[in-house]
Amino acid sequence: MQTPGDFDLSRRGVLVGGAASVAAATIVPAGGADAAPAATPASPPTAKVRFDVNGTARELELDTRTSLLDALREHLQLTGTKKGCDHGQCGACTVIVDGRRINSCLTLAVMHEGDRITTIEGLGLPDKLHPMQAAFIEHDGYQCGYCTPGQICSAVAVLDEIRAGVPSHVTADLGAAPQISAPELRERMSGNICRCGAYSNIIDAITDVAGAKA
Ligand code: FES
Ligand code: FES
Repeated sequence: MQTPGDFDLSRRGVLVGGAASVAAATIVPAGGADAAPAATPASPPTAKVRFDVNGTARELELDTRTSLLDALREHLQLTGTKKGCDHGQCGACTVIVDGRRINSCLTLAVMHEGDRITTIEGLGLPDKLHPMQAAFIEHDGYQCGYCTPGQICSAVAVLDEIRAGVPSHVTADLGAAPQISAPELRERMSGNICRCGAYSNIIDAITDVAGAKA
């Protein structure tokens, strides 16, 4: 039987020996000295996309997986469009593409070659607000404001939808002279969530703009 005296290893010897073993394990590939080195990951594919953003022609070279939302925010610094859920559930990322509102987090930027994109920055300017922006201010249609750019883009497109006679779940046939009701607006704006609960003031603002233009 071994006694403690049989193990005549110094603390330094243990540490040096252990380090050498680790180094050897690190240097020798698992498959032996002739094994091929691990492949370096390929860089992601990129593609060029050209579109019009707020009246300006833009061209970007993007990772093909880039969402339109990230292209706007990270590559064009148009941070007015917000990222809430990044999963198509909140509407904070709503922009208008060729006249239709979409969730920009749910679409790839490279799918919008040649499209005309309008973000909150393109609707109005601080000294020349879009009527919908002015109405949101007048009716207190926001609190923290995070959802507001998406709400406003959505609201602008909603009024165009109604005037174009696009039916909703509330109104199957809008007829020649569409009536814009609060239930109609609530249904059409239901994809835009407001955690602050400014819903009634948002509907007041949209109703105001709709009335002013009717
Ligand atoms: Fe796009 Fe929420 S961030 S729907
Ligand atoms: Fe805060 Fe809508 S104003 S989330």
